Amino acid sequence: MDDVDALLGELTEAISAADTLEALDAARVAALGKKGRVTQMMKNLGGMAPEERKAAGQALNAVKTQLAEAIEARKAVLEDADLDARLMAETVDVTLPPREERQGFIHPISQTIDEVVAIFGEMGFTVAEGPDIEADWYNFTALNIPPEHPARQEHDTFYLPREQDGQRTVLRTHTSPVQIRTMLDHKPPIRVICPGRTYRCDYDATHSPMFHQVEGLVVDEKTHMGHLKGCLIDFCRAYFGIDDLPVRFRPSYFPFTEPSAEVDIGCTRAGGKLSIGGDDWLEILGSGMVNPAVLENCGIDSTRYQGFAFGMGLERIAMLKYGIPDLRTFFESDLRWLRHYGFAALDMPSMVTGLTR
Ligand code: DAH
Repeated sequence: MDDVDALLGELTEAISAADTLEALDAARVAALGKKGRVTQMMKNLGGMAPEERKAAGQALNAVKTQLAEAIEARKAVLEDADLDARLMAETVDVTLPPREERQGFIHPISQTIDEVVAIFGEMGFTVAEGPDIEADWYNFTALNIPPEHPARQEHDTFYLPREQDGQRTVLRTHTSPVQIRTMLDHKPPIRVICPGRTYRCDYDATHSPMFHQVEGLVVDEKTHMGHLKGCLIDFCRAYFGIDDLPVRFRPSYFPFTEPSAEVDIGCTRAGGKLSIGGDDWLEILGSGMVNPAVLENCGIDSTRYQGFAFGMGLERIAMLKYGIPDLRTFFESDLRWLRHYGFAALDMPSMVTGLTR
C-alpha cells in the first residue's frame, strides 16, 4: 500500500510539474501508457494471492482515476495559459491604416479570347486545343505545305533540335495544326475554334515572336462558301459591335484552303488615325474552303465531306478594338499598361447598372 501511495505522490508531482502540453503528455504516458508505471503494477497483480490482489487492484484503480483527473485538470490550466499567451501576442493594432487592396486585371488577350469564344460559342462552335511544340507534319505537311514549299519560308519558323528518330519539331507557326489534330481525332460533323499561342521569328510594332491566333474549322456534308461568308460577317460585326460594319472577301491563296479568301473590314484612316467602320479597307483574317487534300490527309472522305476554315491574329483584333498601338507591349508585363488596357475581374456592368439605375 505504501508503494501505491508513494507512486501516486510521485506521479501527481510529475503532472503538476509539466509546464507544456507536450510535457504533460509525456507524464501521462510514463504513468498510464502501455509501459507506464501504473500499468506495470497492474500486470504484477496476477502474481498475488487472491485477497491481496483484490485490495491492491482497488487501490491501483483509484490511483488511475486520480491520475486521470489530475491530468485533465493540468491540461485545462495549460490550455488556458496557451490561449492567454496567444491573445497577448496576437493583438490587433486597430490604429494601423488599412492596407491598400490591389485588384488584378484581366489581360486584353484573355479578354479577347473570352469574347471570341463567346461569339463562336453562340454559333455552336466548341473549343479545341493543341500543343505549342508541334511536329513538322502537323504544322506544315498535313496542311498541304510540303517540304520546299515557298509558304514554309514565309513563316519564319523556330525549329527545335531534331528528335532521335530524325523527326523535326517546331514551335507552331499558326493554330492551323489544331485543325489536323481535330480531324484525326473526331469524325465530322466538326465545328471548332482553336485559340492559342503561336510563334514566328519576328519583332516590331506589329509582330512579336510569340503571339496568339484563333483558328476555326467546320466540316460536314453540306457547308459551303455561303456559310463561311455568313459566319465571318456575323463574327466581325459582333466582335466590333457595329451592326452594319462593311465586310468584304478578297480572293487569296493558302495551301490548306481552295478557294481561299482574305477578309477585310471597313475602316477609316482619317488624319492618320485608324478606326473601325468606314469605306476604306483593312485586312483582318484568312479563310477558305478546306482543301480536299487536307481532308484526305486526315482520313476524311473528300467526296462526301467539305467545310471551311479561317484563322486570325488575336493581338491584331484586340489592338483594333481597344486602340492598343504597339503589339510588343502585350508581353512586357508592365503593370501600368495592364491597369490601363486590362479589364476588371468580376466586372458585371449590366448587373450593376441594372440595380442602380
Ligand atoms: N494559318 C494562316 C496564317 O497563319 C491563317 C489562316 C488562313 C488559317 C486561312 C486558316 C485559313 O484556317 O483557312 O497565316
